[in-house]
Amino acid sequence: MNIILFGAPGSGKGTQADLIVESHGLKHVSTGDILRKAVRDGSDLGNQVESTLAAGELVSDSVMMDLIRRVISDISVEQGWLLDGFPRTEDQSKGLLTLLDELGETVDAAIDIFVDNDEIVRRLSGRLTCDECGRVGVAENNANNTCRNCKGSMRVRRDDKPETVLKRQKIFRARTRPAKDVLAQEYDVHRIDGVGTPTEVAQRIQSVLEQINQA
Ligand code: AP5
Ligand code: MG
Repeated sequence: MNIILFGAPGSGKGTQADLIVESHGLKHVSTGDILRKAVRDGSDLGNQVESTLAAGELVSDSVMMDLIRRVISDISVEQGWLLDGFPRTEDQSKGLLTLLDELGETVDAAIDIFVDNDEIVRRLSGRLTCDECGRVGVAENNANNTCRNCKGSMRVRRDDKPETVLKRQKIFRARTRPAKDVLAQEYDVHRIDGVGTPTEVAQRIQSVLEQINQA
């Protein structure tokens, strides 16, 4: 099964992705996590994108297309993938559709997680992210700032400063909504209410996946 998760920064894509890949055995492809790891590792890619990430701006389409081609080509059709944070521009959507044609693959489910702006600002102001594995958590629930998953350090992401969060939301509205519209010309995009506990949101997504499987 191949799944795409759309949603604004802070809508809960990473949180839901962790739950879905666990229950469906898919490979989680978070472009943000891959880029942040490249920065931590000091790789050529990391050095190239570090200032863009810190500023909350988008990495170029050509860099992102090269990355996604490499990553998706390495995942077996039997396992399937879940894209979290890609595509994010019209050109990325078009590039993805072309790439899938080349590989003979399709998208089985496209999910758009919707959360209003005030809730997003509230969520991101309390978020900690693991330096090592990218797992997300909330400051007050994690007093010693150690990741429960891998024991790495949980920190505030550089792009979660209030002014950078606002910029990311603006870029999302201007560039990522149109990317979703391009995908929607080819596939149904299912809008999900992203407010509620992570388990409640996961149940809404699961019922959409079940409907698709039964169709
Ligand atoms: P990326 O890492 O993709 O960031 P994002 O899209 O801005 O989204 P976030 O990771 O901030 O939020 P999320 O939706 O995953 O929410 P989360 O689950 O963490 O991208 C980062 C940067 O990389 C970009 O700005 C860009 O520079 C670059 N980049 C990446 N992909 C790119 C691309 N394709 N093209 C160009 N550049 C690219 O949840 C948020 C918080 O809310 C957490 O604290 C969580 O615990 C909490 N929470 C989650 N669910 C709930 C719930 N139901 N109720 C209450 N709290 C909740
Ligand atoms: Mg995320």
